Amino acid sequence: MSDNDHGLDKGLTNYGDFDFARFLRRSFARSMGISREMLDKPIIGIAMTPSGFNNCHRYMPDLVEAVSRGVLAAGALPRPFPTVSLGEVFLNPTSMMYRNLMAMDTEEMIGAQPMDAVVLIGGCDKTVPAQLMGAASANLPAIQLVTGPMSTGRHKGQRLGACTDCRGFWAQYRAGTVNSDEIKTVEGRLSVTAGTCAVMGTASTMACIAETLGMSLPGTASIPAVHADRLVAAEETGKAAVRLIDRRLSPRDVITHKSVENALRVLLAVGGSTNAVVHLAAIAGRVGIKIPYSRFNELSDQTPVLVDLKPVGDGYMEDFHAAGGMAALLRELRPLLHLDTIDIEGRRLGDRLLEPMDWVDRSIIRPFDDPISKVGGLVALTGNLAPDGAIFKRAAATPALFESEGRAVVFTGLEDLSKRIDDPDLDVKPDDILILQNAGPHAAGMPEAGYLPIPRKLARAGVKDMLRISDARMSGTAFGSIVLHVAPEAAIGGPLAAVRSGDRIRLSIANKTIDLLVEDAEVKRRLADHRPPPTPARGYKSLYRRTVLQAPDGCDFDFLTQGETR
Ligand code: FES
Repeated sequence: MSDNDHGLDKGLTNYGDFDFARFLRRSFARSMGISREMLDKPIIGIAMTPSGFNNCHRYMPDLVEAVSRGVLAAGALPRPFPTVSLGEVFLNPTSMMYRNLMAMDTEEMIGAQPMDAVVLIGGCDKTVPAQLMGAASANLPAIQLVTGPMSTGRHKGQRLGACTDCRGFWAQYRAGTVNSDEIKTVEGRLSVTAGTCAVMGTASTMACIAETLGMSLPGTASIPAVHADRLVAAEETGKAAVRLIDRRLSPRDVITHKSVENALRVLLAVGGSTNAVVHLAAIAGRVGIKIPYSRFNELSDQTPVLVDLKPVGDGYMEDFHAAGGMAALLRELRPLLHLDTIDIEGRRLGDRLLEPMDWVDRSIIRPFDDPISKVGGLVALTGNLAPDGAIFKRAAATPALFESEGRAVVFTGLEDLSKRIDDPDLDVKPDDILILQNAGPHAAGMPEAGYLPIPRKLARAGVKDMLRISDARMSGTAFGSIVLHVAPEAAIGGPLAAVRSGDRIRLSIANKTIDLLVEDAEVKRRLADHRPPPTPARGYKSLYRRTVLQAPDGCDFDFLTQGETR
């Protein structure tokens, strides 16, 4: 007997006698009730992520069963295995801190266990980027399946979907126009099915990006979680995973400079989540690709917003799917895309887009020459407040604030923010600029705190939007005039740390700049005594603090970028 590096014999434990290791592994595998005939087949790993703390993955067992059915039908042995699962709202201090942990778990378990290809099943915000990061580094043939978006609920005749409508109702509650009885009722009507947030938030954006990169089967990104077609897609994904073994294409063949640019085009055209900029940078970083913000802005200025979904527009993911989904969108974007990219099965994008397609709902997916906006949904800013860049979601902001100058009202951290934002004595006016410091990756794991609440006294006076600036992120389901991901962050001595209440700040979306109107010498003087927060003494948080990169590098760990592990 010898190690032939396929199927169950892959990566045998080395006891100094490979024949014994093979004998032992097979003996233990038999204890799972699997016949010798099945143990001789190729093996498809299924990275599954069910969790009692992840509502978005509630249908995971059904998906695993359907993928397994496809794998068996195609002649291989399915082997599901668990990895870390990240349910967005159940993690403290923030799910973002654990994305890299899940990526490491995924990469290592793909590499350490005997499988010939792997199906990755994720959905909730950080799970798909984590799985793609891990798969890119492990570089075994891999295919992504997403759990799919939630279906909408109803309240007083209005459709509701997590979580743009959560924020809308909460803003009304803060403003006093919705009372506590009604907000309790709404709480039970926002998230009514399994699946990921129902709008073009981070999860949906990442699903569209995974499909555009070529890492999932065409047409699968937007199928609702509870639709029968989601299970069919799972079965087909299982069959495709078996085909990958012979095709020998791996994530590094598919995630290329061109496919990453295509993914950025899609992100811009769907008015997608700002978080996806960070996640895509991290995925691309795993294969040595970096798209500078200058190129991002070129893409943004050429790419129209074509999809009319919340939080930018009116529709929900179920509408996008019924309207034609990614197939329709990619056809509209065709003149802008690199058509010679391939998907994980080796099909050229250009060839796929020549296939006929039926009806498209133009109220949801607009024609290229009749866009919602002629320019992309996101823009990168630079300036003396963000020398390494910041991100602004212009598609979800108030145009009247695009060219503005105002007085800074500074919060030095999350605790300070929660303590003072609703203080009736807070010195704040509607044309002020709210600043949040020390909420970046190093300081706080970069929580979705960039959507600073409008101070209660202004909200009650009818103020709906203000310019807000931070080194944090914001939920992909949020909206408002919000500058995010300021780099370098305040905690490591970025200029954001030098801002004091009363300083003037200028934003120009036309020039793509964000500037602190304070003399350089004064900024230097204020930063002279700056010290980063202490590093935790032990555990994952210590590793995180010592190695996390800034937002333009995807907040990956410095030792995980590039390089192939196996
Ligand atoms: Fe999971 Fe929104 S909470 S996708």
